[in-house]
Amino acid sequence: TEHDEYMGSLKAQLAKLFEVSLKVTVPNELDVEPLVAACNGKFGDYQCNNAMGLWSKIKGKGAPFRGPPAVGEAIKNNLPTSEMIESCSVAGPGFVNVVLSKNWMAKSIQKMLIEGIDTWAPLPPVKTAVVDFSSPNIAKEMHVGHLRSTIIGDTLARMLEFSKVKVLRRNHVGDWGTQFGMLIEFLFEKFPNFEDATETAIGDLQAFYKASKQRFDADPAFKERAQQAVVRLQGGEDKYRRAWAQICQISRTEFHKVYQRLGVHLEEKGESFYNPYIPGVIEALNKQGLVEESQGAQVIFIEGINIPLIVVKSDGGFNYASTDLAALWYRLNEEKAEWIIYVTDVGQQQHFDMFFKAAKRAGWLPQGDSSYPKASHVGFGLVLGEDGKRFRTRNTEVVRLVDLLDEAKVRSKAALIERGKGEEWSEEEIVSTAEAVGYGAVKYADLKNNRLTNYTFNFDQMLNDKGNTAVYLLYAHARICSIIRRSGKDLEELKNKGTLVLGHKDERDLGLHLLQFAEVVEEACTNLLPNVLCDYLYNLSEIFSKFYSNPECKVIGSDMEMSRLLLREATAVVMRKCFDLLGITPIYKI
Ligand code: ARG
Repeated sequence: TEHDEYMGSLKAQLAKLFEVSLKVTVPNELDVEPLVAACNGKFGDYQCNNAMGLWSKIKGKGAPFRGPPAVGEAIKNNLPTSEMIESCSVAGPGFVNVVLSKNWMAKSIQKMLIEGIDTWAPLPPVKTAVVDFSSPNIAKEMHVGHLRSTIIGDTLARMLEFSKVKVLRRNHVGDWGTQFGMLIEFLFEKFPNFEDATETAIGDLQAFYKASKQRFDADPAFKERAQQAVVRLQGGEDKYRRAWAQICQISRTEFHKVYQRLGVHLEEKGESFYNPYIPGVIEALNKQGLVEESQGAQVIFIEGINIPLIVVKSDGGFNYASTDLAALWYRLNEEKAEWIIYVTDVGQQQHFDMFFKAAKRAGWLPQGDSSYPKASHVGFGLVLGEDGKRFRTRNTEVVRLVDLLDEAKVRSKAALIERGKGEEWSEEEIVSTAEAVGYGAVKYADLKNNRLTNYTFNFDQMLNDKGNTAVYLLYAHARICSIIRRSGKDLEELKNKGTLVLGHKDERDLGLHLLQFAEVVEEACTNLLPNVLCDYLYNLSEIFSKFYSNPECKVIGSDMEMSRLLLREATAVVMRKCFDLLGITPIYKI
């Protein structure tokens, strides 16, 4: 049928064929997992590497083979016939090389063009996931680390959403804790009618935080009142609750500006939300015999780690870990999430490691990391300035995120004006393009690195229109779009009536890369590595430009015109999906 069910990525489809072959080849070996990988080599597009491993398992057991090459030969011969495969050969110690059928490849791409790129979405084995990301702290700085968390978390959420997973995008803001005592007391002191203390009155909440901290450290009477305020807040006293809510609201407005610019959507469920669940959760862990007393605190010991996880402080208060345990409990039991993903800097790795292990001890999560429900910590490195130190700007200690995004936009706008767009385009077009390019550049510069490494923030580099940058990629996409526009052809008609053919080597290379999109998203998603998708996108545009600039692949006036336009459109569609998954807004002309 036209809409047959999703067959999985190229790699997965081939793996299914090899699975059948392996069952026939070695019927006595149960559940041999087919090892199939893209090889883009001289001998084929994909390779199955099971022969050697199998040989070492079956030799001497009376199997009818004389060595790995013979096993490979048998795997090849037992492969079911498939439209996908053009030819197979065995090389070296039994590698089975597969050359894909050009016709099948071309048909699959055209089918995607007609039915949409969503038909290429991978299908991970989970229905519901939580992505806990961004998560700044009220009244404290929302620093570049939070920017990284916001960008990386959003991409991961997008990839999962594309894969038809229901994603709960959670902003686990730090909106609870002892610092609120001093903030509230300071608010009362500065604004006797504290409800009038709007954002404009307070101005900079970070400065407010600092001033209140100074007051706290300097005046014992204030300190005393602040400590009382915490008790009254936690006791639910109305006035204190309202003051707390007000401070949170001011911060929220600030955060929202950043999210709006980045086009990131999140649902706030801050630490305070989980507070009522903590006592019950600790009690349950206690009943299981997991909680022990250590130096006045209640702790959970973790095998192999010499410090325990503190779940109730010696003063009886709860902490970051108690909240995280309650939140995990809530996510697993109330929200039925099967995969819970936390995006923070690598500095918090030990916290997550410990609390995941505690959850495993409690039986909330299975031992090992291959089954679900699963909790994953997505750590990332520091953002560095050009001096190699933690990123700061000249006049402020921390970089204000909004200023950063503004500057990216201003610079991209200037570049557009320099390209003469000021005369050609409306102001509105210039602004929206400058935003797409500027914000896209900031995001891409972050995402293209392996997240675990530190990365150096550099405007000139990220806004360069050459090299592996969003600017280069966005322009490449825009160029493809304008070629198609200028051809004057009706795309819908082309998709349905034209025929895509992968005749030339450069066309075939491009087609193969396009078809590998699904497995790349799957890999990026499984390993929570957005840079894998960035690499794919950059390679796509390189492979495209080889095809595009080859005179043998010219479009206009060639009898392959329709086919080549379709191939360009397919490239644009896949590029666009990559941008979408990376949270980057595409541009259509340049
Ligand atoms: N608010 C924390 C911070 O700024 C990040 C919270 C991460 N999420 C979590 N569930 N612990 O460092």
